[in-house]
Amino acid sequence: MSADRDVFRAPIGTRDVLPPDSARWEALIATFADRARRFGYGLTITPLFEHLEVFQRIGDSTDIVRKEMYDFDDKGGRRLALRPEGTASVVRAFAQHRPTAPWKVWYAAPNFRYERPQKGRYRQHWQVGVEVLGDDDPAVDVEVVALASGFYREIGLREVRLLVNSMGDEESRARYLEVLLAHYRRHAGVLGDDLARAEANPLRILDSKREEWQDLLDAAPQLGEYLSDASATHFEQVQAGLRALGIDFELAPRLVRGFDYYTGTTFEFTSAALDAAQDAVGGGGRYDRLAEEMGGPPTPGIGFGIGIERVLIACDAEAVLPVPAHRLDAFVVDAVGGAEALVLLHEMREAGLAADRAATGRSVKKQWSAADRSGARFGVMLAPRELEHGSVVVKDLRRGDQREVRRDEVAVWLLAAAAGEEGGR
Ligand code: HAM
Repeated sequence: MSADRDVFRAPIGTRDVLPPDSARWEALIATFADRARRFGYGLTITPLFEHLEVFQRIGDSTDIVRKEMYDFDDKGGRRLALRPEGTASVVRAFAQHRPTAPWKVWYAAPNFRYERPQKGRYRQHWQVGVEVLGDDDPAVDVEVVALASGFYREIGLREVRLLVNSMGDEESRARYLEVLLAHYRRHAGVLGDDLARAEANPLRILDSKREEWQDLLDAAPQLGEYLSDASATHFEQVQAGLRALGIDFELAPRLVRGFDYYTGTTFEFTSAALDAAQDAVGGGGRYDRLAEEMGGPPTPGIGFGIGIERVLIACDAEAVLPVPAHRLDAFVVDAVGGAEALVLLHEMREAGLAADRAATGRSVKKQWSAADRSGARFGVMLAPRELEHGSVVVKDLRRGDQREVRRDEVAVWLLAAAAGEEGGR
């Protein structure tokens, strides 16, 4: 096997996230984590793989379960699968641990789907998301949508649309499916061989983009007209809540999300900056039956997932969230050799400063160039003469002036300088 074969490249549909670009990931996840904290959500970490049955609950008829699952037998003969999405694992954890409801959690985690890779569609993608279990108040739907919607705004995205729909409760859906099926059968000629597919999963083809079906789909009855009183009232309250918070949204009666677990409110965030085929930068909805299906007590649930890679593509298109500069407080230049520089660097880092130095063996001149390139605020040089007097040379790399600072006070001095700068910003 030769070393230049594809085996030593990241598998198709996966990507390495490396510095400096990874700093944007840090910023994105930190922004989301902070929002989640402000909204009262706690971090949840579930295993990367689960028993296959956990994910089968998200929908036997969906492509994700039927075609795209990374499932395998482990050495003990268990049938396992890599997580294709976040909700199933979180609901499984809820059913298993039975925490006090309402239970509000957030996550940042990779998901795996054996899809045909293209820009914005990967075999491993990351989502930040939240789930709330144990509260069916429409105000929770509004809170969850507000958490997501403000996230896009907080990172600077302006061209994100919010589409909202209601899948209704079981009663609503049963009534609707009857009339929808009758509509398909009346137009069996248009659907041809796909009638069977439409019959097996009548909702799924509703948001099909196939040209020859558009008239048929435009004329199809809409779920909104068949909502039970309870579903209709809930949905109206959600819309009123969104309006009260000043969150713009569009009703999307044909919005069908890709999992069978949804009941009631569903929503999707799309970006005009992405190709139409994968323009969703996030989505979610209510799933009031899932906890019970996972062996838990009947518990309503709602949540969303936001695709990090797609958000970053949208950020590039809108020229927002630039790679944050790597901020060093100090860069050590060693003109004495020995362990002095290592000790000073260690002291500074332990004191809370961001500090680094050049690779060993570089000339002093090269070390100063590295200090300039590093973007550090101060260069700190250990020089034989100054060190003999117990001092180091501190150079302000932005202004160019330099001074002597006592060796045993330099960390404190730099901390004060860094704090002063924070305050002055
Ligand atoms: P989803 O719509 O399948 O929902 O995924 C959420 C988001 O993840 C999408 O809007 C998209 O931004 C991103 N995404 C999905 N698949 C890929 C892919 N192959 N490559 C890149 N990005 C992708 C869920 O996963 C649900 N668990 C959301 C949810 C939470 N519903 C209720 N709670």
